Amino acid sequence: VLLRPASGSRQQDAPGAADGLALASDPGGTLNFLAMVENLQGDSGRGYYLEMLIGTPPQALNILVDTGSSNFAVAGVPDPDVTSYFNPELSSTYRSQGLEVTVKYSQGSWTGVLGTDVITMPKGLSGSYTINIATILESENFFLPGVKWHGILGLAYDALAKPSSSVETFFDSLVRQAKIPNIFSLQMCGAGLPVSGSGTNGGSLVLGGIEPSLYTGDIWYTPIKEEWYYQVEILKLEVGGQNLELDCREYNADKAIVDSGTTLLRLPEKVFSAVVQAIARTSLIQEFSSGFWTGSQLACWDRAEKPWSLFPKLSIYLRDENSSRSFRISILPQLYIQPILVIGDNLQCYRFGISSSTNALVIGATVMEGFYVIFDRAQRRVGFAVSPCAEADGSPVSEIEGPFTTADVASNCVSSVSFHEPVLWIASYALMSLCGIILLVLIVLLLIPPRCQHRYTDNDVVNDESSLVRHRWK
Ligand SMILES: *[C@@H]1O[C@H](CO)[C@@H](O)[C@H](O)[C@H]1NC(C)=O
Repeated sequence: VLLRPASGSRQQDAPGAADGLALASDPGGTLNFLAMVENLQGDSGRGYYLEMLIGTPPQALNILVDTGSSNFAVAGVPDPDVTSYFNPELSSTYRSQGLEVTVKYSQGSWTGVLGTDVITMPKGLSGSYTINIATILESENFFLPGVKWHGILGLAYDALAKPSSSVETFFDSLVRQAKIPNIFSLQMCGAGLPVSGSGTNGGSLVLGGIEPSLYTGDIWYTPIKEEWYYQVEILKLEVGGQNLELDCREYNADKAIVDSGTTLLRLPEKVFSAVVQAIARTSLIQEFSSGFWTGSQLACWDRAEKPWSLFPKLSIYLRDENSSRSFRISILPQLYIQPILVIGDNLQCYRFGISSSTNALVIGATVMEGFYVIFDRAQRRVGFAVSPCAEADGSPVSEIEGPFTTADVASNCVSSVSFHEPVLWIASYALMSLCGIILLVLIVLLLIPPRCQHRYTDNDVVNDESSLVRHRWK
């Protein structure tokens, strides 16, 4: 699916926002990062969303920011669980591609039609841009009661786009049309606040660069191992300063990704049980119910008594750009023991913000809320810096330290780097052979040469278990 080129004149108009807001961080004038500060709303439980205006005349929708998928999709018909939807028939600039697309999650899915339309972002880049939009016609367990967003903005690489990687992603379209640097950054500010609160916690999605007021200290960068998800390499985990001492490949089984669309910190099963054991051991709490660790039970304390001092700090070591070094990002219990429910006048209940996964380590909202995270696609790296909004009761709840030596870990913790690619190649060869055989059979039997049609019904699980859609608190 190809896009029309952007109309050239818009480019020159954009700096017309010469209203004195241009920043030092804004050399060209097209980018005004300050205008993007606080452009998100939401919470870790249900995700952070950006307001967008879609079509002509504009229809306002809230769009979930998801770095774990690559399609831009919006509700296209009324749904009992969405308060608003995009009606393509009311937009004079909408063009349908007539192509159906289905995205399946391990729980939940949607099916929609691909098209293009123009969008603007009231608190984003100035100007309007033509992008690919999937309008969702049918969905299952995708929109859930209480969510305040009506669509999803997949910010990962085109390798994950459906039905194929030739569907240009939202961010690629933006980079091409607005000529902004190929980098965006994300700050989510829900630390210490209720998981599913009023939905008015703030956050910032900065398109095209890094806004200095959104972080303190240094930015530490880790290379992107492969450009599909934002896949990074984790070298070591520590609980309360104690190394878990697992083979580092366990931390990357079968990938470690940074995903704003996942609520929790998700750990491969083996790592998860080691972490739970270590936390239970150091948590000073005897006989803690196992249901708390598995997510089926909450733990409640008197409101006056905050439980956080009972739990240890959790540190994740990431490979530095200099591969013989690492740095660590640490989250305090304020980030992973999360207030979720008040009972009566004086009981505050908490959930465990870490869960197990069969196929990935996912640095989700639980961790990301501690940091300003830079998705530096131009230099193929993800950066972390301490976020000033990551604090509870006036104290910081996250830390970054480095450098550390990597002499004690393997030189590569990511096994079989492009495991999924051969699988896809085999699958496509198999499909091609199948088409060939069917073609031959038809020619021989019917003596009518039919065209071998390849319908896009790619039902691959894109987001597998990493999606917010699955791991939201209901
Ligand atoms: C990488 O880190 C090692 C260990 O700290 C250091 O000796 C080396 O000079 C660094 N290499 C570069 C290119 O900075």
